[in-house]
Amino acid sequence: MPDWTDLSREDILHFLRSSDEKELETLWNEADAVRKRFVGDAVHLRGLIEVSNICTAQCTYCGIRVKNPNIQRYRMTMEEILDSVRLAQQFGYGSIVLQSGETPAAMPTDWVTEIVREIRKISTQAITLSLGERPANDFQAYRDWFEAGADRYLIRFETSDPELFSRLHPGHPGLECRLEALRKLREIGFEIGSGCMIGVPGQSWETLADDIMLFRTLDLDMIGVGPFLPHPETPLGQEFLKVRKFQEENGIDPAAITEYFVPNDEQMTLKTVALTRLVCPRANIPATTALACIDRSMGHRNGLNRGANVIMPNVTPAKYRQLYEIYPSKSSTLEEAERFDKMLKERILAVGRTIGEGPGTSENFRSGRHLTQ
Ligand code: 5AD
Repeated sequence: MPDWTDLSREDILHFLRSSDEKELETLWNEADAVRKRFVGDAVHLRGLIEVSNICTAQCTYCGIRVKNPNIQRYRMTMEEILDSVRLAQQFGYGSIVLQSGETPAAMPTDWVTEIVREIRKISTQAITLSLGERPANDFQAYRDWFEAGADRYLIRFETSDPELFSRLHPGHPGLECRLEALRKLREIGFEIGSGCMIGVPGQSWETLADDIMLFRTLDLDMIGVGPFLPHPETPLGQEFLKVRKFQEENGIDPAAITEYFVPNDEQMTLKTVALTRLVCPRANIPATTALACIDRSMGHRNGLNRGANVIMPNVTPAKYRQLYEIYPSKSSTLEEAERFDKMLKERILAVGRTIGEGPGTSENFRSGRHLTQ
């Protein structure tokens, strides 16, 4: 058995590839025990507010990319955003997450600063921003938002392979620029979060192992991972679906290519969650919506049982939610906020966990480990 407190890249690769049920059972148990020991039984709930789907980026996998002409674009008003914050407060969520497409023109720095200030006036909840990268690393925007009262920033690096990163993000200056943004955000004082997709075409097993190693190197406070879900209005989604169809028509087992490439399924996502918990014991790790999307009934609970300690319920007004389809059928998994909230809390209690209280700051950040390493 490996040294669970210090997994090597080889150990990680081994578990990623393993299909030995006994061995995986040990992995799930270890991850759950480490979760309990380092971050406890509380499941922290974050109210997700999808502020705008306007986007100028061309990420080849994402349904709200600039070149998808088939969606209506929106931006919430200040009052609508504050109403969503109030809804999250009513449900007792300790933090809210403002997420949007990557568009400085739709999300001007000063407007975001004002939103953060207004939220601060009505709420003590932690404020998390997930607004993408500012062009040419305009770090002043991040500083302004931090000074206005934002606490956390999420920006996934998506893949640790620089070539794959560039293929997935045409027009982007490259992975290093994204990593620089994360380092800068940490320096400014944010709790920082990142993550990757599982089974995105071109991701090898080694790449995924490196993604997990990079979580540790970046010393992340929050880590979100989810399966790649092919969106038919995107170049990568179309390519993926074409290959799938070809395989089906010709009787080719999709498993044939998993010798080289990672599958985008639930098991892979859960293995990644578990390994991430072992490698970053103090991080906040959500059972993501993408995971719940591929297993509607058990996705969240399976994530919670294998290392996750956070869920991010959506509090965006229903009329906008359906327009924020970064991957297909995302919005249809999200029931009306009240019903979803009630169901989620019942499910959390049913697996023997408690509902988190307060802002749910990451233990990694609280213990200040990143300052001493
Ligand atoms: N499948 C899965 N995840 C996706 N994301 C965007 N598009 C997809 C997709 N098609 C994820 C990215 C992004 C986050 C907000 O959503 O990882 O960082």
